[in-house]
Amino acid sequence: MIRVENLTKKYAGGEAVRGISFSVEKGEVVGFLGPNGAGKSTTMRILTGFLPATDGQIEVAGAKLPEESLLVRQRIGYMPENVPLYPEMRVEEFLEYRGRLKRVARKDITERVGLVLDQCGLSDVRKKIIATLSKGFRQRVGLADALIHNPPLLILDEPTAGLDPHQIRSFRELIKDLGRDRTILLSTHILSEVEMVCGRAIIINRGKIEASDTLANLAKRVQSGALQIEVKADPVGAREKLAKLSEVGGVVELNRVGEWVSFEVTALPGKDIRGEVDGLIKRENWPLRDFRREKARLEDVFVELTQE
Ligand SMILES: Nc1ncnc2c1ncn2[C@@H]1O[C@H](COP(=O)(O)OP(=O)(O)O)[C@@H](O)[C@H]1O
Ligand SMILES: [Mg+2]
Repeated sequence: MIRVENLTKKYAGGEAVRGISFSVEKGEVVGFLGPNGAGKSTTMRILTGFLPATDGQIEVAGAKLPEESLLVRQRIGYMPENVPLYPEMRVEEFLEYRGRLKRVARKDITERVGLVLDQCGLSDVRKKIIATLSKGFRQRVGLADALIHNPPLLILDEPTAGLDPHQIRSFRELIKDLGRDRTILLSTHILSEVEMVCGRAIIINRGKIEASDTLANLAKRVQSGALQIEVKADPVGAREKLAKLSEVGGVVELNRVGEWVSFEVTALPGKDIRGEVDGLIKRENWPLRDFRREKARLEDVFVELTQE
């Protein structure tokens, strides 16, 4: 659905995108992740035919950019970072207008508008003036606009920016739903969003791609390695013994409840300390009631890949 080779974008102030290559296959929901200023919006504007690249080969929805930018715009639904709405229009009226612009057949327009109003949870506000809507509803109108011509590919630039947690949740559900029969590329700097809706993430930093992989594989890259255990033992002695293990980097006592004490045991880089810790617990005959490894979080991967 999207194929990008060596995409570069230079602004007067410098290079915002530095020769990136990636692709998105049909049916995928991909998170485009990066800190502010990484180059997400620039890339998306180029992919949607609204901004020319400085260099690179780009194919979106079967059409080449920049030559076929009109075709690209017809085949994709784009929700830009700052959704440009017509504040004085009514929701329904706006969507009809946008549908006509995007060449939805006259006979289909009423049906399409009804469908996207319903899909985006806007039926109750269809007669309202856009300017009077809350931010969450305005974002929905932006999404409805992106969907009006029923495109097979959606490119959404920080669609949940500025929403409150309730709005984010319902928006996320909506995107999940849409992803069932569409290809979606969605940018965000909110990691939980990617964890909940995306199968794969592309991490971009300072105009370069740092990683592109499934979430499970990304998590494997950072050894969170921290282990939480709770044993019945002398806290001071147990702490010392754990700390002496050859692959253990650190031990922190977390909590004491009666005779039980819990520790967070961290591994030296790249080590899996489960065997060693388990061996010690068995040798010492410590009663054990908790033993778990913390999952590496996408946040850890992100921070590791994008830190200064
Ligand atoms: N129109 C522009 N003119 C000059 N520099 C720009 C323009 N738009 C973005 N930039 C710069 O390009 C870099 C990437 O910006 P952007 O693509 O908006 O990043 P992101 O969406 O990941 O936050 C930033 O350093 C930004 O300041
Ligand atoms: Mg942006």
